Amino acid sequence: SFFQQLLLCLCASETRTVWKRNAAGVEWDECRNYMKVLLSRQGGLFICGTNAFNPLCANYTGDTLEMVGETVSGMARCPYDPKHANVALFAEGNLYTATVTDFLAIDAVIYRSLGDNPALRTVKHDSKWFREPYFVSAVEWGPHVYFFFREMAMEFNYLEKVVVSRVARVCKADQGGSQRVLEKQWTSFLKARLNCSIPGDSHFYFNLLHSTSPIIRMHGRDIILTVFSTPSNSIPGSAVCAFDMEQLAGVFDGRFKEQKSPESIWTPVPDEVVPKPRPGGCAVRGSKFNSSNSFPDDMLTFVKTHPLMDEAVPSLGQRPWIVRTMVRYQLNKMVVDTNAGPYGNQTVLFLGSSRGTILKFLVTPNRDNTVTSNNVFLEELEGYNPDRCGTDSPQARQLLSLTLDRISHSLLLAFPSCVIKVPVARCQLYSRCMK
Ligand SMILES: *[C@@H]1O[C@H](CO)[C@@H](O)[C@H](O)[C@H]1NC(C)=O
Ligand SMILES: *[C@@H]1O[C@H](CO)[C@@H](O)[C@H](O)[C@H]1NC(C)=O
Ligand SMILES: *[C@@H]1O[C@H](CO)[C@@H](O)[C@H](O)[C@H]1NC(C)=O
Ligand SMILES: *[C@@H]1O[C@H](CO)[C@@H](O)[C@H](O)[C@H]1NC(C)=O
Repeated sequence: SFFQQLLLCLCASETRTVWKRNAAGVEWDECRNYMKVLLSRQGGLFICGTNAFNPLCANYTGDTLEMVGETVSGMARCPYDPKHANVALFAEGNLYTATVTDFLAIDAVIYRSLGDNPALRTVKHDSKWFREPYFVSAVEWGPHVYFFFREMAMEFNYLEKVVVSRVARVCKADQGGSQRVLEKQWTSFLKARLNCSIPGDSHFYFNLLHSTSPIIRMHGRDIILTVFSTPSNSIPGSAVCAFDMEQLAGVFDGRFKEQKSPESIWTPVPDEVVPKPRPGGCAVRGSKFNSSNSFPDDMLTFVKTHPLMDEAVPSLGQRPWIVRTMVRYQLNKMVVDTNAGPYGNQTVLFLGSSRGTILKFLVTPNRDNTVTSNNVFLEELEGYNPDRCGTDSPQARQLLSLTLDRISHSLLLAFPSCVIKVPVARCQLYSRCMK
């Protein structure tokens, strides 16, 4: 686009000028090469950067961080604008990315590329598939890759815009549709709402997903922990909800949701009108439909027009494991240590807050992972350090990422202007705890 060309020129000229801000109001900072994808791959690193609104990807050596080979386009793999959220993951040699493919961030995509499988994407400019999504994370589980994100809801007939959180999935074996329907697009893309709420007379929802854990084993089940908050125009609150992966996958076997006409409300699709084989499924080797290219057109058309499931994914125990309301901060980052404690068999959750502090909880669910009232709040750690970070403001305290370094038993906190390392435990401060 013209605007992008202009920005590229402005970014190029940055190297020759010392202007702090251009006439269009774009911060020169945005011209830098922001690393938005950083994945380890066969001993090296695969990195994509915004490259002054012209995203590029390349391999790097793991030890000396030198570029190896040619660069490839970052389009649909990395956003143009450093402010846009994106997700990337390698699964079976293919790169799965969730990002925007254009400069104005209108075309959101879940894209697969760089492997032996054909490149596939989500349907372009179809608000049933995505409506202003904000991608949070992705995990590989069984035959699928799951994506966690939030977006503008389409299924409510409210006038105001409501953001909800979702999980979507695609089959790793997907080869795209037929030449008539969904060619070079996912035939297995389905999505469902995530239900993180406090039951009661008037149900209280935490609608904004901020962070998810990797899949962890708890009492023999695969579960994923998530951090949600309320929107800024609501009562301030944050919650940690847990989802059982079996239960989550089960929602995709349930009913589909549809809106018969633009004026009607969204209703579940009756089973008898759902085509066969079941839309959104993976092709089965040795069956009549052994590749997604051979799926019948009516089935593909149904998937294309019905990506949303009727049921929401219930959280484990039907309520959050941890709730913080009416506090001045929002919880938005999380790491889980599943090998904590003197015997390495305890689960400790570290939650990053919008004030740059870390809240630490001991999580002790019962055998079926439901009763969680026995979770223990251990301590609040000061993460942000104005002396070391050189400044202090609400913006400077925004936690960009939180990671656990198991080897050094510490947390790494990235802020806009500094990285802080904090030990995971400070037992010397609690002499009784040491005993
Ligand atoms: C990066 O490395 C992988 C694995 O060695 C290779 O297949 C690929 O072609 C390389 N280049 C890019 C741009 O991905
Ligand atoms: C799928 O089935 C067809 C016949 O129905 C067969 O020709 C083809 O080799 C099969 N492909 C795979 C990948 O099994
Ligand atoms: C969310 O879960 C609660 C508790 O089980 C339930 O009452 C409510 O209807 C669910 N909401 C949605 C949208 O499914
Ligand atoms: C952890 O291991 C210790 C020692 O084997 C045991 O006493 C304790 O019950 C275990 N705790 C959990 C939560 O499994």
